[in-house]
Amino acid sequence: MSKHIAVLPCDGAGKEVVPEAIKVLRAAGADFEFEEFDVNADAYMRTGVAIPDEVWSQLVKADSILFGAVGDPRVSESDYLAGVLLRMRFELDLYVNLRPAKLYDDRLSPLRREDKRAVDLLVVRENTEGLYVGMGGRFKKGTDQEVAIQEDLNTFIGVTRIIEYAFEVARKEVVMVDKSNAMTYAGGLWQARWKAAVAEHPNVKARHLLVDAAAMQLVKDPTQFDVIVTGNLFGDILSDLTAELIGGMGIAPSANINPRTGRGLFEPVHGTAPDIAGRGIVNPIGAILSASMMVRHLGHTDMAQAIEGAVESAIRAGDCTRDLGGTLSTAECGDAVARRLRD
Ligand code: IPM
Ligand code: MN
Repeated sequence: MSKHIAVLPCDGAGKEVVPEAIKVLRAAGADFEFEEFDVNADAYMRTGVAIPDEVWSQLVKADSILFGAVGDPRVSESDYLAGVLLRMRFELDLYVNLRPAKLYDDRLSPLRREDKRAVDLLVVRENTEGLYVGMGGRFKKGTDQEVAIQEDLNTFIGVTRIIEYAFEVARKEVVMVDKSNAMTYAGGLWQARWKAAVAEHPNVKARHLLVDAAAMQLVKDPTQFDVIVTGNLFGDILSDLTAELIGGMGIAPSANINPRTGRGLFEPVHGTAPDIAGRGIVNPIGAILSASMMVRHLGHTDMAQAIEGAVESAIRAGDCTRDLGGTLSTAECGDAVARRLRD
């Protein structure tokens, strides 16, 4: 039976890149039924509702969600973001956020040292807890006595399951990243669960780094990394850094998944790119590679590999948008990848 994919392009650049991802999936021969939903800032401003109940019930039923980017300067970022992307991550319990970074062409690396460029790593970001849960408050708001509290929520189960997942997908080594020297309560739990997991996986290499040192090492020599497992905020920050190591925000994909239920939401790491959106120049590769992660998650390994191969070939040939040194428009870049899959 054909899979049912819920499509949420949402805002800005998301509206431009998601159709290219669908174009490529079709060219790859994916037997999917795509259903697009009108979840975006315009609808939110009109109705005051981020995701209407009838749409939510469809999203819950879908085999996967293909997502663009969310955000708009006209709406209160926090309410709208929390009501769309964070709600889906939390309520669908998509606790693993996979953010691979692989250099497809040497010219895209910002590093001067040639021997340090060939990055091929995976950030495994905890996606349902940490500083993102929205607990806390602002007291005496707007006065010079104001106090703002943002709670960092870490649970035994949440920390255990994300570290366990990292060990499951490691090829060479797992590096756990935290800030346990300064944030001793959350860090203490991460350290305890980390040590237990390391003891359970004697055959996998394991190393711990503090997040500041990890940021430094990622720039100094990213080739040393295989799998990095970390909390929600550090994973968010480090995955922008790793995106830049492979050619920039336009190219980096991500998968938000629950490996136990099989649910998944697939989105490029980039946001709505208000500075360049709407001119047909945004890079669709991040969205296309996210679609490739989706088909892999749905069990079509060969198709995922074919899409990745087509992307790599297009990038190497210079058939890409200007952020990667090409001259193509968003749609032409999608065509360049799709053509390679049809031939
Ligand atoms: C990302 C984004 C989101 C995040 C924002 C839009 C809430 O930056 O997916 O990396 O911080 O997780
Ligand atoms: Mn981010």
